[in-house]
Amino acid sequence: DWTSEQFVESTVAALKEQLGDDKVVLGLSGGVDSSVAAMLIHHAIGKNLYCIFVDNGLLRKDEFENVLDSYKHMGLNVKGVDSKSKFYTALAGLTDPELKRKAIGRVFIEVFDEESHRIEDVKWLAQGTIYPDVIESMSVKGPSATIKSHHNVGGLPDFMKLKVVEPLKALFKDEVRLVGKTLKIDDAILGRHPFPGPGLAIRILGDVTPEKVNILQSVDHIFISNLKKTGLYDEVWQAGAILTPVQTVGVMGDERTYENVVALRAVTSIDGMTADWSRLPYEFLADVSNEIINKVKGVNRVVYDISSKPPATIEWE
Ligand code: XMP
Repeated sequence: DWTSEQFVESTVAALKEQLGDDKVVLGLSGGVDSSVAAMLIHHAIGKNLYCIFVDNGLLRKDEFENVLDSYKHMGLNVKGVDSKSKFYTALAGLTDPELKRKAIGRVFIEVFDEESHRIEDVKWLAQGTIYPDVIESMSVKGPSATIKSHHNVGGLPDFMKLKVVEPLKALFKDEVRLVGKTLKIDDAILGRHPFPGPGLAIRILGDVTPEKVNILQSVDHIFISNLKKTGLYDEVWQAGAILTPVQTVGVMGDERTYENVVALRAVTSIDGMTADWSRLPYEFLADVSNEIINKVKGVNRVVYDISSKPPATIEWE
């Protein structure tokens, strides 16, 4: 019978054996998989694991700082890299969702390659790949696919030529969470909703600007913190807000306003392949809507997405 304690013990021993005194580089995303992979390897080789956490400017409000702090508390050898302006520059003027994804993937690879070159004599690239990723490796989405699509242009970045270590390759998501618990990883990291690699860029319909990111972060923060406050966060599989390019007329005091519509999306799901919209209580939605419109400048209307997947998708782009 599989137990997470046994898995941790045997995997850490095997990693020690496999990696010896070699240096390993790993990209942290703030998500469950990369965090658990990092902690496993950390237990095996300590400071020889070099973690890189990139701020792409497309994360949730304060997420970069908070998650970086958690990683440091966990004892990880982690470097936070502020690359916001590189991502914003690459995204400027792009409106097509796939072009936005490609630009983000390209910049991530550039930044990661540059950072791994700073680690002298690094031998391994560690990844938080889990079993479903292995099966779905033909999928067009996800960072590994982005990397693959770049093989064709300009050859492999150097870090892709490193030997690969993937300690979670045989595990399902729930097993990864159990392993994370055994490793005493913060619940704030283990219980976190899935979040797409391209982040808020695919929740800002049309072109991405730092101003729009700012607006969406504020909206999203109100939605997510109310979900947490009311205990609804754990009942929902994934939630977030979408900034639409649609402006509508509103009224504020005696003034007529003409501002953006935001959509809220919350779904229940097992694996993201199918999903149903969450039946969030009307009172909850009313409170969140009021708070958003009162507090976030530039938004005067909130709608709730009641589409299931299929035929809709979870993200709007
Ligand atoms: P969709 O929108 O296809 O999303 O129903 C299913 C799940 O995948 C996430 N998603 C992505 N994750 N890169 C990622 O790493 C992407 O480009 C991407 N697009 C969607 C989405 O958040 C949901 O969890």
